[in-house]
Amino acid sequence: MSTDYDPIAEQYQRAKQQPWRTHVESFTLMDLIGDPRGLSVIDLACGEGFYTRRLRQGGAQRAVGVDLSARMIELAREQEQRQQLGIEYRVADARSLDHADQADLVVAAYLLNYARNVAELQAMCDSIARCLRPGGRFVTVNTSPRLHFPSAPSYHKYGFETRAATPWQEAAAIQWIFHLSGGAIEVENYHHNVASHETCLQRAGFQSLRWVSPRISPEAVEREAEGYWQDFLNHPPVIFLECLKAG
Ligand SMILES: C[S@@+](CC[C@H](N)C(=O)[O-])C[C@H]1O[C@@H](n2cnc3c(N)ncnc32)[C@H](O)[C@@H]1O
Repeated sequence: MSTDYDPIAEQYQRAKQQPWRTHVESFTLMDLIGDPRGLSVIDLACGEGFYTRRLRQGGAQRAVGVDLSARMIELAREQEQRQQLGIEYRVADARSLDHADQADLVVAAYLLNYARNVAELQAMCDSIARCLRPGGRFVTVNTSPRLHFPSAPSYHKYGFETRAATPWQEAAAIQWIFHLSGGAIEVENYHHNVASHETCLQRAGFQSLRWVSPRISPEAVEREAEGYWQDFLNHPPVIFLECLKAG
């Protein structure tokens, strides 16, 4: 079980090809982000640059990707070499980013759920606030704090499963098992309830918090049998959030 992405970087990259990533995760996240044209963007926990590239290709004037995993950043840089988009990638820990920036937008797909306790969650939110200009926006997707994972249904038909530690409490571990053609990979992240998220973000200087449930792309609704997405929608394992840094 790992929170270290170095040994599973390539497999995780393949896990991004599962249909729910495109038709639920990306569909909802990119819609929530809106038009990035002309914006200065930082993608925290960028992994191999999945969203960093999309933001730059969508017209972000500047895009920086930051990740703790050297191997993930290596994969991102390899893709940058093949297709030069002018993205800068850095290895750094989002719990202790010391650089202040004036970005218009910070995106973080699955960062906050790696905080092992509330102090780390606070440290991440403080780092994010330091990256943004006053009035700048933070958009994120994470393991959902609203779902009671110990009683979640099986998500096997979507290509993954979850397991959760009991008692269900702050910082309880959640295992995600992604079924891929070459075998399964497992990663572990941590539960933080809604109040912990909101308190840490507000303490870091964020306001206008808005939680957004996942949506399914019309194409995927059309393609699958009726009711196929119902387990995902009735018990969403991920949730989206946007907020603004106070001006
Ligand atoms: C589930 S992956 C998501 C990668 C990418 N955002 C995506 O959606 O494809 C989570 C990423 O968070 C990174 N990560 C975990 N803790 C971090 C931290 N403290 N600072 C920066 N990155 C971190 C991991 O190395 C991993 O690449």
